[in-house]
Amino acid sequence: MCGIVGCVLKNKEVAPILFDSISKLEYRGYDSIGLATGHNNKINLKKDAGKVAEVDAKLDLKDLDGTYGIAHVRWATHGDPSKVNSHPHLNNDGTIAVVHNGIIENYLSIKKELESEGYDFVSDTDTEVIPNLIDKYMKTGLDLTQAVRKVINVIEGAYALAAISVSEPNRIVATRKDSPLIVGIGEEEYFIASDSPAILKYTNNIAYLEKDELVILDEDGVSFLDENDNLIGKDVEVIQWSPDMAEKEGFPHFMIKEINEQSTTIRNTLNEKDNVQFIVDEIKEDINKVLFVACGTSYHASLTGKYLIESLAEIQTEVLLASEFKYSASSLNEKTLVIFISQSGETADTLKALDIANKSSKTLAIVNVRGSSATRRADYTIYTQAGPEIGVAATKTYIGQLVAIYLLASLLGDNENLIEKLYDVPRYIEEVLAKEDIIKHFSNKFKKLSKVPKYIKPILSMPHAYKGLKNNFRHVEDMFFIGRGYSYSIALEGALKLKEISYIHAEAYAGGELKHGPIALIDDDVPVVVLAPPGRDHRKIMSNLEEVKARGASIIGIGAIGDEDLISKSDYNFLINSEVDELIAPLVYIVPLQLLSYYVSVARNLNPDKPKNLAKCVTVE
Ligand code: G6P
Repeated sequence: MCGIVGCVLKNKEVAPILFDSISKLEYRGYDSIGLATGHNNKINLKKDAGKVAEVDAKLDLKDLDGTYGIAHVRWATHGDPSKVNSHPHLNNDGTIAVVHNGIIENYLSIKKELESEGYDFVSDTDTEVIPNLIDKYMKTGLDLTQAVRKVINVIEGAYALAAISVSEPNRIVATRKDSPLIVGIGEEEYFIASDSPAILKYTNNIAYLEKDELVILDEDGVSFLDENDNLIGKDVEVIQWSPDMAEKEGFPHFMIKEINEQSTTIRNTLNEKDNVQFIVDEIKEDINKVLFVACGTSYHASLTGKYLIESLAEIQTEVLLASEFKYSASSLNEKTLVIFISQSGETADTLKALDIANKSSKTLAIVNVRGSSATRRADYTIYTQAGPEIGVAATKTYIGQLVAIYLLASLLGDNENLIEKLYDVPRYIEEVLAKEDIIKHFSNKFKKLSKVPKYIKPILSMPHAYKGLKNNFRHVEDMFFIGRGYSYSIALEGALKLKEISYIHAEAYAGGELKHGPIALIDDDVPVVVLAPPGRDHRKIMSNLEEVKARGASIIGIGAIGDEDLISKSDYNFLINSEVDELIAPLVYIVPLQLLSYYVSVARNLNPDKPKNLAKCVTVE
């Protein structure tokens, strides 16, 4: 949801560092990119719509004079992804520049007022009111810091913003409310950024800005003001993530690199066991209900949590989408543990729900990004030790969330056996990855023909003759994923991955629910992925497999090595170590589905790291 960076250097050109930093945040938005630097009483600005590399090839973004500046990557909310709507935005006389992540909800009334005072607006954005408001206040004699304070007293909504003015060279003033912003304190280089990958190369010393605090970056250092403008000190955390963790390290995309890092994530997240035990000891006697709240992939991890906690710890457990929380969470009380799952710890809907739950219940955040808002607002935190995840589609952080949930459920239910089993999961995942070529090869069947070869044309002209070929998925635009029990949440996550990055419409259904409607959509053009790990539900999911097979579907079976029934009834199959039973299947069976979505995306010439219309961190409701 947009990324911002600001940097002040001592006697060094800022644009190359600014460009490098903002490029690391491209996962937050890739509708446009822009940089503004201050130099000799002038703001230098380069910006345009398009991905970072495209715009850089056109404009050479590193070529801007100045030792201080701000930069932005955009995920459009107000106004289309055009050059004029790109950030940074300037005031009318081009002396003030601003970057902003969030939404100014009352921008229309502010804009009207400014227009009546003679200000002109060139963009459709909500942000453009900010540099003009700063301008208006500075003209009354305020300095940049005072003007930014006045602006945040006027604007409503969510923001992380940074401003520069030629009248105060080598200075950036930044602030935040409901959108993330960190401060990086290096040696003679000072940063603000939406997320740490932007600045890890330059410093590991990070401070976190609270709501409506101001930070002022000068060439000699950083100062912080609280919401009443008192100068305050801040704890500086040294974060352990290294800059390499945010690089592709030889992989063609972040997503496939991150899929390959999942066994490491599991090992690292298992190290949270003592922390989880501590939390369980603190809360166990005082709760009689658990409620999970999350969005997207984190919601799917929560569903696994419901099944696990109910069966292992026998505590009633519900799951709510964060965006729906306020409509149905009236029954919270002090006996409810509300668990918020969020990779970023910054998802707006999740944070809103967390604030509501904090009033009546104990809250626990399961989060990947250190120091993020959710970790600072919840009573307890478990970190998924996945390292930075850059691919927009969550993979290794999902696995980390699951491990945290398995630990929590096992310890709530005193099930040491399950914890023992978790230590074998990295090996099972490595076995899956060792056979990834099977999925890669299969995924190539989804490749669209760029030019239809002459000899296919006569067949194509016959309705359905080409479409119905069972070994050919070029035409496929709809798929189903089915599972039962623990595998139902795997089906949901597998379908979401395929939708997100391959743009194939994918539906996940609980096997038993198919015949209540969706089976009407099954025919020989709709492949069905059947998740059939060994266990109690195996026979039942095999019956569901038969039901769709009888309607002509091609079956892609995911099951255990040696499962002859599945092998004989599937058109294609991917087989997994038979020690992986249905209880731990979510941790392993998701991996072939992640690989499927990745390789189908690649086969269809898409960019799996930057799916259209999506952003990694959704900081607006
Ligand atoms: C976005 C991302 C998803 C993610 C969801 C929730 O939609 O594209 O990958 O699952 O937000 O994000 P969170 O950071 O709260 O887990």
